[in-house]
Amino acid sequence: MSFKYIDLFAGIGGFHQAASLLSGQCVFASEINDEARKAYSLNYGFSPAGDITKINAKDIPDHDFLFAGFPCQPFSIIGNQLGFNDIRGTLFFEIARILKEKQPNMFILENVKQLTTHNNGMTLNVILDQLQKCGYKVFWSVLNALDFNLPQKRERIIIVGFLNNDIDFIFPNIKSHWDLKSILESDEDIDPKHFVSAHILQKRLSKHQSMFNPAIWHENKSGNISSYPYSCALRAGASYNYLLVNGKRRLTPREMLRLQGFSDSFKIVCSDFQTRRQAGNAVPVNIIAAVLQAMIEIKNKIKP
Ligand SMILES: C[S@@+](CC[C@H](N)C(=O)[O-])C[C@H]1O[C@@H](n2cnc3c(N)ncnc32)[C@H](O)[C@@H]1O
Repeated sequence: MSFKYIDLFAGIGGFHQAASLLSGQCVFASEINDEARKAYSLNYGFSPAGDITKINAKDIPDHDFLFAGFPCQPFSIIGNQLGFNDIRGTLFFEIARILKEKQPNMFILENVKQLTTHNNGMTLNVILDQLQKCGYKVFWSVLNALDFNLPQKRERIIIVGFLNNDIDFIFPNIKSHWDLKSILESDEDIDPKHFVSAHILQKRLSKHQSMFNPAIWHENKSGNISSYPYSCALRAGASYNYLLVNGKRRLTPREMLRLQGFSDSFKIVCSDFQTRRQAGNAVPVNIIAAVLQAMIEIKNKIKP
């Protein structure tokens, strides 16, 4: 099935990558950050609009799916400043506003796992309630990229909705094998700037010996080091410093993109700093591709 979709808070297009695997056609995207917009348009030949708060929903083309990996910002606002039932002024409000006006058949939203526990679950309840008020049957689950063939422990809440009330959705739970080696570039090909100094290497080796090879070493705030045959969750800010391949070098931008399931055909058009930030912000492509496929399958089954 070919489908039309919109990509809100588009970043560098984790949703776009997943939808392309299933012949989706992007009809609208929005992203406020200039560098991410540049990467998106040079990669996909589609220029995202800017700030979503400035877009009139009536100007958005009709679509089958709405996708949004919305920023965590609503957590602090919903419930605190505005009271639980008032979502105005939050970025989540922008999603509800567009769903109400455009009524796409289905949507997929993504956010950090902590949304499930924020304000004792009240924030999530407000979000689910608002989505139901927009006319959707809503399902959610926390999925881990490690279960979807990516060597990264990244747990995310995925919320999906269907206009059709007859649908009972079961989230995919592919428990797959991953291979860290396959996403790593070879040390010989890597720019020396990514390697730590001999002094730092010695310091780390004196503190930690890994049971795995290759391994991603992770140093926490108190300086404790652990290592795994997979990466901890990439983050937009700090990953560069606290994750080290075999304790000796930082991940390259390409490796970070691979950890998120981005295809190697994704062109790196921004600085290392920007690309790392963008990769840390992205949604794991494999999770979205599996959820999207399951949604399309169930929709096709129910269709008369
Ligand atoms: C968590 S990231 C989503 C990343 C995306 N799913 C991906 O795969 O790359 C949230 C994005 O929302 C963007 N954003 C924040 N406020 C926005 C706004 N008012 N309008 C449009 N985009 C916004 C940020 O710049 C950031 O790139």
